[in-house]
Amino acid sequence: MRFGHFDDAGREYVIETPRTPYPWINYLGTEEFFGLVSHTGGGYCFYRDARLRRLLRYRYNNVPTDVGGRYYYVHDGGDYWTPGWAPVKRELDRYECRVGLSYTKVTGERKGIRAEVLYFVPLGTNAEVHRVTLKNTSKAAKSVKLFSFVEFCLWDAWDDQTNYQRNLSIGEVEVDGSTIYHKTEYRERRNHYAVHSVNAAVAGFDTDRESFLGLWNGFGEPQAVTEGRSRNSVASGWQPIGSHQLAVDLAPGEERTFVFVLGYVENPVGEKWEKPGVVNKKPARQLLARFQTTAQVDAALGALRDYWTEMLSKYTVKSGDARLDRMVNIWNPYQCMVTFNLSRSASYFETGIGRGMGFRDSNQDLLGFVHLVPARARERILDIAATQKADGSAYHQYQPLTKRGNDAVGSGFNDDPLWLISGTAAYIKESGDLGILKETVPFDNDPRDTATLFEHLKRSFHHVLHNLGPHGLPLIGRADWNDCLNLNCFSETPGESFQTTGNRTGRTAESVFIAGLFVHVAPDYAALAEATGFADEAKAARDHAARMEKTVLEHGWDGEWFLRAYDFFGRKIGSKECEDGQILIEPQGYCVMAGIGVATGQARKALDSVRDRLESAHGIVLNQPAYQAYHVELGEISSYPPGYKENAGIFCHNNPWVMIAETVIGRGDRAFALYKKIAPAYREEISEVHRLEPYVYAQMIAGKDAVRHGEAKNSWLTGTAAWNFVAISQHILGVKPELEGLRVNPCIGAEVEGFTILRRCRGAEYRIRVTNEATGKPARLVVDGKPVDGTLVPYAPAGAVVTIECEA
Ligand code: BGC
Repeated sequence: MRFGHFDDAGREYVIETPRTPYPWINYLGTEEFFGLVSHTGGGYCFYRDARLRRLLRYRYNNVPTDVGGRYYYVHDGGDYWTPGWAPVKRELDRYECRVGLSYTKVTGERKGIRAEVLYFVPLGTNAEVHRVTLKNTSKAAKSVKLFSFVEFCLWDAWDDQTNYQRNLSIGEVEVDGSTIYHKTEYRERRNHYAVHSVNAAVAGFDTDRESFLGLWNGFGEPQAVTEGRSRNSVASGWQPIGSHQLAVDLAPGEERTFVFVLGYVENPVGEKWEKPGVVNKKPARQLLARFQTTAQVDAALGALRDYWTEMLSKYTVKSGDARLDRMVNIWNPYQCMVTFNLSRSASYFETGIGRGMGFRDSNQDLLGFVHLVPARARERILDIAATQKADGSAYHQYQPLTKRGNDAVGSGFNDDPLWLISGTAAYIKESGDLGILKETVPFDNDPRDTATLFEHLKRSFHHVLHNLGPHGLPLIGRADWNDCLNLNCFSETPGESFQTTGNRTGRTAESVFIAGLFVHVAPDYAALAEATGFADEAKAARDHAARMEKTVLEHGWDGEWFLRAYDFFGRKIGSKECEDGQILIEPQGYCVMAGIGVATGQARKALDSVRDRLESAHGIVLNQPAYQAYHVELGEISSYPPGYKENAGIFCHNNPWVMIAETVIGRGDRAFALYKKIAPAYREEISEVHRLEPYVYAQMIAGKDAVRHGEAKNSWLTGTAAWNFVAISQHILGVKPELEGLRVNPCIGAEVEGFTILRRCRGAEYRIRVTNEATGKPARLVVDGKPVDGTLVPYAPAGAVVTIECEA
């Protein structure tokens, strides 16, 4: 069952009913100011850091769901309603929500009034703009009242929901005509305030929540709205809000548009005040002046559209399969931008107060992002590398506002350092910018301890070699990619963190996954070493990788698939000898991606085992059999009920590793079949089962052991976005930037007969036409009319247009 449809020409998903199976959201903002907006207008916004600079209050885990947002109430002769249906939930004659690229447009119509609210964050602007259009669709003249509403968060979202003894006394606002200033804590250490304004004269306002709602009312029945009369309240403590009331007269057929701006404003510390107690409003006025007219707003929206058009033009496919095309051309790269910006901080599953930027996560997010804005990828790589420690280990997370490593979580996740090599290599392949390797970057953000970025990569690589276990495999530390496989934790205390509790320090628990990752990054690392003039290091790296490959085949092979790990006691994990958890997905995908066992047959066996043991109708589950009981020596993985999350859930992040692995052994039809199982556009028709947005990936789909098999959780902020983009664009459709040129080598199976790809890379344009006979063999290429050997097309100079005919 569907709840809407894709409008590919408009690059929108059109939600046709407000009664979706869950709030379906979108993101506003592409640079420093971000908003989350649901299909009813719920959500919140923040400047850079979702915890420390939050403008609006939002209630996670509340009932009914999705409480808090930017609401517009229409009061029409005693009848009142909201165009997004919630929070008033009055039946609408018409409802539609258009989820677009960095904007959302909600339209509701009731009894002859149509209200359309467009939400977006203009480029270069720290504010949300809400363009609200009211239209009289009836045959009679109408006088309606429009009320806006936002509830301010007192900046630090954690403190805001925990420290009431202080917070209920500190709220402060100023009202100046049609503009409301939220200035809590501005009198002391803050030099920023929020502004909420409309480009029209107001008939009333409210800034105190209780005055607007009434003490016992919810957002569905604010007394100012039910009575059609603002209180003109000025908040003093309690809960500051921003609400405007506009009186709108509309002749039959007439429409009027209002522009509301909700922004974040900073003043230099020495220029905070206009006069004692009155905030300096100059920068706010400058901001508001940019959005006074509908023409200004429309121009800003046009600029945002152009920005996306330019970015998405880097990789486009025409395949004849609309679902494939819309994933590759629109929604997957869109999600990659969102994960790049927000890592795992703020979604409807991540509260914005818990997690900062992940070292491992952000490096993987780069894999799907580097082609969109390479310059921003460069900056990110240098930020991440600065949180690496001198011994090559890495802080697991860092805070976006300070860019410093998070001491509370610390380091010791032994896969982390290697991801820096993957992220950097992806950026250099896309951009050709080998110069980044010579940049000076501190360790642990300490300006007294610096080295080149290449030296950082070297320490990453050697960190693995300095931390090998009894079988010669890498020590796992606190965890590897699977944050929930905690082999040195042994936690028996409720509430203790599985990731930071490390009460076994023995150097015994080893990870076959990290071994696969090591072998996978080694060729890139060696090539970068060579390109930087370290030929000996390159050779040594290749030797180490060959040795590791041998070790994996000797100690990491279980007969039919790759082992997952050795535990603290040296016992096998992910082996036929185990009772539960006999096979885990991660090493099957990664070892084959790395080429391990491809020549000798283990790779094919491992992927057949994945097919036979792990695959389900909704994707590949993480392990089988699911752990039925808690194992203190395994950690969090065994804490989940069977079928959820890392315990046999379909963890969509690692499915593409298997897709890519299938292309490594030439099984394109398998790769594409697996792709379609989890790609959201292919799951749109089962939205009542999947439940989350059909335009973006979720982290997890409940596995076959789960009560709710097929149901997704944790949409948007997941490494799934980047990895699926890599799998489909570089391996299945097969156009992949390498250091020396563009690799063109599709492997998609027989279902798709042929397709064209337009790829812009390093300033040149590649027009690729693929005739697909699904041979499973390397493609044959004709470049600018000449047959060439191999599948690598050397980079053309900027401005060139290269035509490639490809037989796959
Ligand atoms: C984390 C990733 C981790 C994955 C698997 C995600 O929640 O952000 O870093 O690799 O879970 O455990």
